[in-house]
Amino acid sequence: MSAPASSTLPFTPLALGCWAFAGDRFWGPFAERDAVATVHAALDRGIRFLDTAPVYGEGLSEEIVGRALRGRRGDALIATKVSAEDCTAEGVRTSGEASLRRLQTDVIDLLQIHWVGDEARLDETFAAFEALRDAGKVRACGVCNFGPRHLARLRAAGHGWITHQVPYNLLWRAVEFQVAPQSAADGLGLLAYSPLQQGLLTGRFRTADEVPVGRQRSRHFHGDRPLARHGGPGCETETFAALTALAAVAARLGRSMAQVSLAWLRQQPGVVSILAGARSPEQVAENASSLDLTLDAATLAELDRATADLKAKLGPDPDMWAPESRYR
Ligand SMILES: NC(=O)c1ccc[n+]([C@@H]2O[C@H](COP(=O)([O-])OP(=O)(O)OC[C@H]3O[C@@H](n4cnc5c(N)ncnc54)[C@H](OP(=O)(O)O)[C@@H]3O)[C@@H](O)[C@H]2O)c1
Repeated sequence: MSAPASSTLPFTPLALGCWAFAGDRFWGPFAERDAVATVHAALDRGIRFLDTAPVYGEGLSEEIVGRALRGRRGDALIATKVSAEDCTAEGVRTSGEASLRRLQTDVIDLLQIHWVGDEARLDETFAAFEALRDAGKVRACGVCNFGPRHLARLRAAGHGWITHQVPYNLLWRAVEFQVAPQSAADGLGLLAYSPLQQGLLTGRFRTADEVPVGRQRSRHFHGDRPLARHGGPGCETETFAALTALAAVAARLGRSMAQVSLAWLRQQPGVVSILAGARSPEQVAENASSLDLTLDAATLAELDRATADLKAKLGPDPDMWAPESRYR
């Protein structure tokens, strides 16, 4: 069997997600010195892969990553993205150049389509990404948030794309229905985002009301929560019932819920790297400790059972936030 396309970049099994560096309305303030210390703690623990995007703080997250990597660029793999509205030929080129400047680097290791904008122009988008790769400004190309039709378009027109970034965690298993198997069949490695369901899978919150409003937007929560826009009923009771069951498994194993959740994800088919957000060196250390945990088959089955009802209730749409799925 040939090596998967994702092996063309040396991904680490755990990555650092840098969205919260934006200090935006979803995450709240985050001092740059703490973000830089978090990046350095990650690199020091062998978490070399960093994921950011132009839209995170309108460039601020990329700028902070660039400053944090001064003198350490060789220690890191950087992934960034192009926003949906920039997915024209000119937009991809301009966005990529701006990311290079903010990241203070000559090459982006992985450039990804953040969300599909104008579907009619997807072939133009693919070609523009590949032109940046051919020019040596990008080492590899990937997609995020693609549904079956978009994956088929990539299969038909793209050349050598390596990864698909999707939301995936014990409380959000929608990709298991169709998107993950399809990605694997297409040779795309999965990068799992929001692996702790934005902090829920640390067990820190006992009720839905305790969760910060910026993170009550997903379809776990009722659609009338302040920043939610999905408009649906949510499934708060089922979500917290699943968390109670997961807490019992973690307690029995003598590990934190975060570690068990990350270990479970690492053992799922097709997952190449887990993009865990963290806001302190302590959180990085805690998450890195999941790397020495391998769950046995009985525990994996128990975790599957603990979250199966929630998975069934939330269904196969991987879009966590929108009123109408953007996964097409
Ligand atoms: N492609 C896309 O469309 C897309 C969408 C979403 C995310 N992403 C990527 O995925 C990355 C991660 O996703 P995410 O940030 O949404 O969610 P996440 O990784 O599930 O959650 C991150 C948050 O969990 C809490 N946390 C992490 N480790 C912890 C620990 N050991 N103990 C206690 N709390 C801990 C922190 O919350 P506090 O801040 O409260 O401490 C942290 O900010 C993002 O940074 C981004 O790079 C991509």
